[in-house]
Order: sequence, then structure tokens, then C-alpha cells
Amino acid sequence: MENIEMNSNAPAAAKEEPKKVIFSGVQPSGLLTIGNYLGAIKNWTTLQDAYDCLYCVVNLHAITVRQIPADLRRRTYETLAIYIACGLDPDKNTLFVQSHVPAHAELGWLLDCYTMFGELSRMTQFKDKSAKNADNVNAGLFTYPTLMAADILLYQADLVPVGQDQQQHIEICRDIAGRFNGIYGNTFKIPEGFMPKTGTKIMSLADPTKKMSKSDSNENGYVAILDPRDVIIRKFKRAVTDSDTVVRYAEGKDGVNNLMNIYSCFTGKTHEEIEREFDGRGYGDFKMAVGEVVADGLTPVQARFNELMKDKAYLEEIMRRGAENAQRRARRTLSKVYRKVGFVEI
Ligand code: TYM
Repeated sequence: MENIEMNSNAPAAAKEEPKKVIFSGVQPSGLLTIGNYLGAIKNWTTLQDAYDCLYCVVNLHAITVRQIPADLRRRTYETLAIYIACGLDPDKNTLFVQSHVPAHAELGWLLDCYTMFGELSRMTQFKDKSAKNADNVNAGLFTYPTLMAADILLYQADLVPVGQDQQQHIEICRDIAGRFNGIYGNTFKIPEGFMPKTGTKIMSLADPTKKMSKSDSNENGYVAILDPRDVIIRKFKRAVTDSDTVVRYAEGKDGVNNLMNIYSCFTGKTHEEIEREFDGRGYGDFKMAVGEVVADGLTPVQARFNELMKDKAYLEEIMRRGAENAQRRARRTLSKVYRKVGFVEI
């Protein structure tokens, strides 16, 4: 798959041409982490002027793993509030909740019929999640990628900005779209993955060989966007490193490499600059510095989040506006697809 590298200064869309369409989403399935922030949401904010962007709170995906209803409801508001608090302007982007636009589930079912059992079986996320939830390996977990393909294809998205763990899902989306187009003629735009230069795979602080995840049962493994300052600093102080003492980016130093990546994302400094900055200083100093820049970077996001969460009516208004806009666009693609496969429209 061809991936486009993204700078903090996103390329401007060519004049006169319609803006390229961007689609992405986050599951409201846990506390959003700095992995979600650096791998996805923070980069989305750099795209909002040059592109036509839709960002979804993917609650249909979230129920592939058992959720407590009250938590899911609260996190749906919270995820939307985090999008806005991180800098996504609801007037420039279409922000919406997946279950408010039934076309996602409708196209998801249809694409199930154009997706092979074998290709879904190869998905590493399915393998990981079914191992973690061995008592609930449900059909939705298996067909998760076809619903994700529906999300993207409904809006004829050109680009899908995601972290590294979602690359395989983008590939299968492209395969499904290509297969459908091959049978019925050009119907779907084939989307491209869109990865940031840095932050595309933030690792767990407790086990730096594993991806940082909001569903980690060990809360020292992740830093949530909403973690209080003292918690953030404590988690970084405890971060697993190695028996060496030199702050240097090198093979085998997974813990230090991860901390350097995080520090780099929050400060804009290169690995060489970081190595120089901490030359002759130990890991203790370094971990403290990483904790502080992360806490400082998240302070304004948290302040805005707290304000937004006091105004549910405002968040619901954004959801309503976003759903109306998304629904109108999604319906256009869905009716085209229905006509192509031979469904009678009345
Ligand atoms: P989710 O909710 O697991 O994660 C949301 C986004 O955060 C990125 N991400 C990370 N990036 C860097 N380091 C990490 N440790 C890290 N953890 C998560 C993910 O790559 C993702 O971009 N299936 C998707 C949600 C989805 C979607 C879509 C995305 C549903 N439909 C359509 C794009 C387009 C998911 O589970 O993301």
C-alpha cells in the first residue's frame, strides 16, 4: 500500500479542485490515550483547512467488545469533546456518531457479502482481540474490518489518517472496494492510508514491545489524554527502560526509543537534539522531562474538555448537525450501491 507521509504543515489542496475527502474515527471504548492523540487526533487538526474531513465516534465498532452501557454513552460524549478539545473545529469538520447514520450498518452488511472468510481470518487485530476476549469471540469482531470499510467507502474518502495498527484494515478496505468495482464498475474511490511521520506507533510504558492501548488492563501501560498531571508524571517515572543509562535512540532500547518518540512529538525536537539535550544526564531526568512536556501539552486540551463536558446540549447539537450532513452524503453512495447490486428502490 502506498502511504503518504504527513508533515505538520499539510500540503494545500490544489486550487479550483474540490477538496480531497478525509475520513477517520476512534472507538469510544476506553480512556483515549496519548497513542490515539499522537497517532491520530493531533494530526487531524492539521488537515482541517485543506481537506473535506469527516471524523466519526465509532460506537458500532466499540460493541464488538462487551461495554457497560452507561460507560459507552458517557464515552461517546467524551470522545466527541476530546475531538473538539484537541482542536477540531465543528464548523470546518463533520463530527458525528456512527450509530446516528444507519448507512454504515447497511453498507457494512452489504460488504460482508463481498469479503472472504479467508481474508478476514488473516486480520491480526482479530487474532489479538479474540485471544484477549476468548469468552466473546463474536461475529462482529470477525467482520469488524468490513464495517470499517463501509465507514470509509460511504464518503468516497481519498485519505484515511490512522496509526500503524490500522494499516491492515485499510488494505482490506482497498481490496473490498477493488473487488466491488471489478464486478459492478467504478463505484468506490480506493482510499489511501495517511500516516504521520512520527507517533504512528506509541508503545506501552509498562511493556515497550506492545502497542499502547486504551483497553490495557495495566493502567501504568498507557497515559490517558485526561490523566491528571501528577498521574502522567508518575506513569513516566515508572516507565520501563533498560539497564543502560544513556539516552540514545538505538535498536534494542525499545523503552527509551518510545520515550524519545513521545518527547519528539510533544516538542518537535529530533532524536539527535534529544540525545544532545540529555547527554550526561540519567534516565531519571529524562523521564521527568518527558512527563512534564506531555502534561504541559495536555493541559489546554483538558481545560477545554472540562468546559465542553458541562454543555451536553452543545455536544448534542454538534452530533445532530454532523449526523445530518454525514447521512446526506452516505445515502448518495448507498443508493448508487443498491442500484448496482439490483435492489429495487421505491
Ligand atoms: P482505535 O479506536 O483503536 O484508535 C484510534 C486511532 O488511534 C490510533 N492509535 C495509535 N496510534 C499510535 N500509537 C498507538 N499506540 C495507537 N493506538 C491507537 C489508531 O491507529 C487509530 O487511528 N478501527 C479503528 C477505528 C475506525 C476507523 C474507521 C479508523 C473505525 N472505522 C474508519 C479509520 C477509518 C480503531 O479501532 O481505532
